[in-house]
Amino acid sequence: MIRALAVLLLHSLAFAAEDPLGAGLYRKHCASCHDAPSLESRIPAKSTLQAMRAAAILQSLETGVMRQQAAALSRTEKRSVAAFLGTSSVSVADRSRFANPCPPSSFQPDQAAPSWTNWGAGLNNWRHQSTSILTASNIPRLRLKWAFGFPDATTVRSQPAVFGGRIFIGSQDGTIYSLDASTGCQHWATTVAAQVRSGITIAALDGRVILLAGDTGGFLHALDAATGTPLWKARPELHPAAMISSTPVVHNGRVFFGISSYEEASALSPGHICCSFRGSVVALDAATGKLIWKTFTIVEPAKPGPLSKRGKPTMGPSGAGVWSAPTLDPAHGLLYVTTGDNYSDPPTPTSDAVIALAISDGQIHWTKQLLAGDAFNSSCTHPEKYNCPDTDGPDFDLGASAILLQLPGGSRTLILAQKSGMLHAVDPDRKGEIQWQSRVGKGGVLGGIQWGPATDGTRIYVALSDIAFTRAYPNGPERPIRTLDDKSGGGLFAFNPRNGERLWQTPAPPCSPKPCSPAQSAAITSLAGVVFSGSVDGRLRAYSSIDGKIIWEYNTAREFTTVNKVPAQGGSMDVGGPVIAGGMLFAGAGYGQWGGIAGNVLLAFEVNQEEVQP
Ligand code: HEC
Repeated sequence: MIRALAVLLLHSLAFAAEDPLGAGLYRKHCASCHDAPSLESRIPAKSTLQAMRAAAILQSLETGVMRQQAAALSRTEKRSVAAFLGTSSVSVADRSRFANPCPPSSFQPDQAAPSWTNWGAGLNNWRHQSTSILTASNIPRLRLKWAFGFPDATTVRSQPAVFGGRIFIGSQDGTIYSLDASTGCQHWATTVAAQVRSGITIAALDGRVILLAGDTGGFLHALDAATGTPLWKARPELHPAAMISSTPVVHNGRVFFGISSYEEASALSPGHICCSFRGSVVALDAATGKLIWKTFTIVEPAKPGPLSKRGKPTMGPSGAGVWSAPTLDPAHGLLYVTTGDNYSDPPTPTSDAVIALAISDGQIHWTKQLLAGDAFNSSCTHPEKYNCPDTDGPDFDLGASAILLQLPGGSRTLILAQKSGMLHAVDPDRKGEIQWQSRVGKGGVLGGIQWGPATDGTRIYVALSDIAFTRAYPNGPERPIRTLDDKSGGGLFAFNPRNGERLWQTPAPPCSPKPCSPAQSAAITSLAGVVFSGSVDGRLRAYSSIDGKIIWEYNTAREFTTVNKVPAQGGSMDVGGPVIAGGMLFAGAGYGQWGGIAGNVLLAFEVNQEEVQP
């Protein structure tokens, strides 16, 4: 399967970076959005596309994010525009011949061995590793052990999982890899068609170990974790723009995850009638992929609505996608998901909310909305605002998973982080009644608090994105371009889970090299005494959880020699956070969206035992 793809791409993309057909197609179908992206939009600039491999662009047009924008193009036209834009050095490696194969060995995972197997390192999404030998005193001796380069990638957003001495990670070109955790040698690689979008989940099931991953095409894939052989795939949502960024959770033989979509971006096209997607939560049989239940976050399907103020036809209600991993509460038979904004009017009571559903049948028990009336889509950032709903934002999704926590004295709390920059604590035993709220940052379309906090049970740790843009005028006063604001965003904060009191805060160190952003958008990770947080300028830092002091820092934004001989560099750290198992820490680096630093590397760190304690 992998070889067939490689041959196809080599064959089809070898021609014509100068191809006038490709240039014309770009002008006609892509330039309106990609030539001059508006200040706040998510659209990558043409120069970013030109740094991508043609194969990756083609994948985006065929099965990925841009499949709707490219729907009018034939296959040959898609190839032409991809070849015109992308780097001409398209040589997709034949991955059946790895540069770094592992010596043959059988996969006999020891359940008790160090692991990190889903988004939040457990069912309650603490993002806390309780059994590592890493500590605040040996972290200063943390050193890079090996680096692995992803071919055809400019962004590393899928969080890895570690199990049985192996690490599993998904890539932007749709390939999932299994590597040896201690050496980075390669056990297997399987391409699953579209970009891998969710983090990886590993679960033991009926004597075998399975791997689960969601993609940009709306599919959930199950693979045999020992061999990489595909077991089943499912697309439980029919909407064409559906995708799965929610990392699945496995419990009692069932897989739970949420569904979100790209329709918020499709709304940028003036011809798109916005919008018809609605978020949902699903439970599948882990052995077969068969649907057990599915619950929409919006009760009624979208129907044609009144013309907007701008005279455009509309559809609604829509949106309330589920971007993050569900949080399971088996003791109470519930699972909690957080939702995003509505894409069109009318707004619903379930957007920007936390929803409690029965684990058994998906029935909604209660909903707590954190912001009412938030309908927004990407066209609201366009000067013409073609499809922008009359309510027009502010786009304050909950993109982070809820954290479930038992408090001293027996009460419980659900911690919710929002793109508004607010941290909320609600009572899961009183239908989400608010316990406290604390402001962390200003908030914005790209967060606020973006991918999520962590807790060790004593304190809540929160990284602030608050990424911002300013205008620069290299082409004269008439043609401003968007550039990252190096003064805005970032910082790590600790809160008391009982009352929301801020215990300490550590501002982001100044970013470099400029233009850059100090924002901390990626999910963070906790360990006894230590918190890890990656930044948009490519720094990975360890903070003391007692007082927030920075005790270790590593700049990933540089080139690496990789164990698999693929040229690689680090860059912005976003979405998935560092993963810790045993004495090792793993982190992906590179995020070539909205001004971030592109990169394609997985880094593995270990404490150097030989170094003398300073
Ligand atoms: C209506 C506006 C619009 C048009 C037209 C458009 N794009 Fe995009 N493009 C976007 C947006 C928005 C994103 C960011 C999507 C996201 O990540 O949410 C994007 C992202 C991309 C990406 C990065 C995808 C990834 O996988 O990270 C590529 C490549 C791309 N576009 C290529 C194209 C090409 C080629 C065309 C023309 C055939 C095109 N686009 C037409 C709006 C547009």
